This record gives sequence, C-alpha cells and structure tokens, in this order.
Amino acid sequence: PQGSTVSDLAELLGVPANDIIKRLFLLGTPLTLTESMSDDLIELVADDLGRDVKVMTKEEENSFSFYDNPEDLKPRSPVVTVMGHVDHGKTSLLDAIRHTGVAAGEAGGITQAIGASQVQINGRTITFIDTPGHETFTAMRARGAKVTDIVILIVAADDGVMPQTVESINHAKAADVPIIVAVNKIDKPGANPDKVRQELTEYGVIPEEWGGQNMFVNISAKKKQGIDELLESVLLEADVLELKANPDTFASGYVLEGKLDRGRGSVATVLVSRGTLHVGDALVAGLSYGRVRAMIDPKGNPVTEAGPSDPVEILGLSSVPNAGDEFRVFQDDREARDLADQRALKARIEEQNRVKHVTLENLFDTM
Ligand code: GTP
Ligand code: MG
Repeated sequence: PQGSTVSDLAELLGVPANDIIKRLFLLGTPLTLTESMSDDLIELVADDLGRDVKVMTKEEENSFSFYDNPEDLKPRSPVVTVMGHVDHGKTSLLDAIRHTGVAAGEAGGITQAIGASQVQINGRTITFIDTPGHETFTAMRARGAKVTDIVILIVAADDGVMPQTVESINHAKAADVPIIVAVNKIDKPGANPDKVRQELTEYGVIPEEWGGQNMFVNISAKKKQGIDELLESVLLEADVLELKANPDTFASGYVLEGKLDRGRGSVATVLVSRGTLHVGDALVAGLSYGRVRAMIDPKGNPVTEAGPSDPVEILGLSSVPNAGDEFRVFQDDREARDLADQRALKARIEEQNRVKHVTLENLFDTM
C-alpha cells in the first residue's frame, strides 16, 4: 500500500530491514526503519532486490483487498438463520416474527418480497435469511460463504431432538456460529421443554442457566408467545459478537438466491457483508457481471443503496448467479467484465475436461 514504511517493505519481501536501509543509502535516499517510502522508491528497491512490486493506490486497494482499518469499522446488525427439524415450526416462527415487527408499529411493513427479511426491535435491526434448506447452507459453507452470524435452532417441545436438529447443530458448529435455542410449541399439551434441554446437552448445546453457552427461550410460534424475548436474546448475542463492517468501501457479499424472471431478467438476492452497494455499481457475482440497474429491499421498495447486513434484490446482471457465489463491486465495469469473462472461460474449460473425462470413462466401460 501507499505510505508503507521501510519495515513494512522488509516484512512484505521477507528480507532483513538492514538490506533495504543499505540499498536506500546507496541510492542516495537514506531512511530509517519507520519512515515511509515513496511509491517509486518502493518499486525501485524491490526491483533492486530482484522482486516485482507494484504499489496500489488507495482506490485500487479498496477494490482488491478485504482489509479494513479498525477505525473504519462500524457496528452492523446481526444476520440470523432459523434451522431445525421438519415441522418444528421454522416458517411459523418467521411469520410470528414478521407479524411482531408489524404489530409493534415499527418500520416493518414486512411483506416477504425477497428471500430475506428485516425486522426492527428496540430500534435495532435484525436480518433473517429465509431458512435456506440444509443443502444450501452446506453448499454455501463449502464455498466459504459466511452469511449468518447467529443460528436460531428451533425444537418442538412435544417432539424433542430429531435427526435434522442434530444436523443443524453440526452445521452451526462447523460454521462456528452461536446457537440460540427456541423451544417451540410450548402451548401443546404434551410439551416438555425441560426434556428438550436435557436431550440437547448430549450434543453440547447447554443452557446458560446450567452453566453452558447457549440461550434458551420457550416459545409458541402459533400463539406468538416468547417472540420478543427470543428477539432480545438475538440482540444480546449480537452484542457479544460485536459485529462490525466498513460501510465506506466497495461492496462485497454473497448471493443468497438467483433466478430468471420473465419480465426483469436476471434477479439476484444478495447479502451485503462489507461496503455499500449502489445502483449503478459494476459488479461480478460468480460468472455473471453487470451494472446494478435497480435494487429492491425486503419490503419490496426500490432503494438506491444497501449497506452491511442488508439483503437486497438486484437487477441488471448478465446471467443468473448461484446461491453462495461471492459478489464484489469493481471500480469500473471493464474490470468487472474481464474478471467474469476469465471465470466463465475457466468454468468452460473445467466443464470440457469433465465431459472428456466422462467420455473416457464411458469408453472404458464399453470395452
Ligand atoms: P418445514 O418447512 O416443513 O420443515 O416445517 P416448519 O419447520 O417450517 O414448520 P411449520 O412452521 O410449517 O409448522 C409445522 C406445523 O406445526 C404447522 O401445522 C404449524 O401450525 C404447527 N406449529 C408451529 N408452531 C407451533 C406452535 O407453537 N404451537 C402449535 N400448537 N403448533 C405449532
Ligand atoms: Mg417451513
């Protein structure tokens, strides 16, 4: 980066700082360890040491690196995923949460326009990713997509721990995401919330009141009981996580969903992880690229920008990206197109190799 010091360069090149100081002296520009070097000087000294170094401008750096100075980080709202066994109440819980947001008279009008929603509670925002199936979650994780900060594990109190409950725990643990347990259906006659707590200890999910790490909240998604308490627990957990991101840089994040719409063309729901996304930005998402033509927020309203932890639907991409694809904004659209083209080419070559491979196998099969 610009303004690097002698010791920065030494570290970058992996050479003793003294070597650099010596060379600087011989070049007639003596500098000490902590003095910063001009861009030309950095490139010259590196060249002298047989290394090819190109100093990036602040702009270039922003569009390439994911590094943020700590002072640029601002608090961001938590992104939450609800997981659990079939019929334990994921959809009902999300409905109840959306309803609460509306009923509380907050900025909520939460019609579910896109595959994610946001609710306001106590003046703070929580983003819910609409329950990606386990497969999507796994696929995203396999690609290194970090889209969720907190998992709400929903367990029906009349049914207890079931196979997908365990799967959900494994997913959350593998992704190193904290779990808040919502013990649901407590209105049912056969409900036994304490049995759920007992069963979960076997999987390392232990209530705080028993000396463990997990918050447990008894709820009834159907009767809308315990929902506020659950949301408050989410905010408490978020406080512990101290979630932050730099909003003032080129946007990047992940694709939650991509589809082809007859009238609107390629439509992608993305979650912004870092930076701010604007209408008109040039971006690459997986193999597709384009300028953002329009953006729609979770309430279905057009917006011109979206910051960290915001989910938005974007229009204007050349093709349909896949769930879990990373997206990032580039300074100019030629850069974006070049990268997308390179990736598309690489994908085509891989595909051809795969086909060839299969044909070869088939060939052997028939021999
Ligand atoms: P899948 O999407 O199929 O995995 O199910 P789900 O986890 O989304 O469960 P869903 O919300 O569809 O609820 C399943 C059934 O349980 C529905 O008939 C709900 O009405 C019922 N249900 C959900 N929450 C509660 C609750 O708190 N109490 C009672 N009594 N029934 C509930
Ligand atoms: Mg459901």
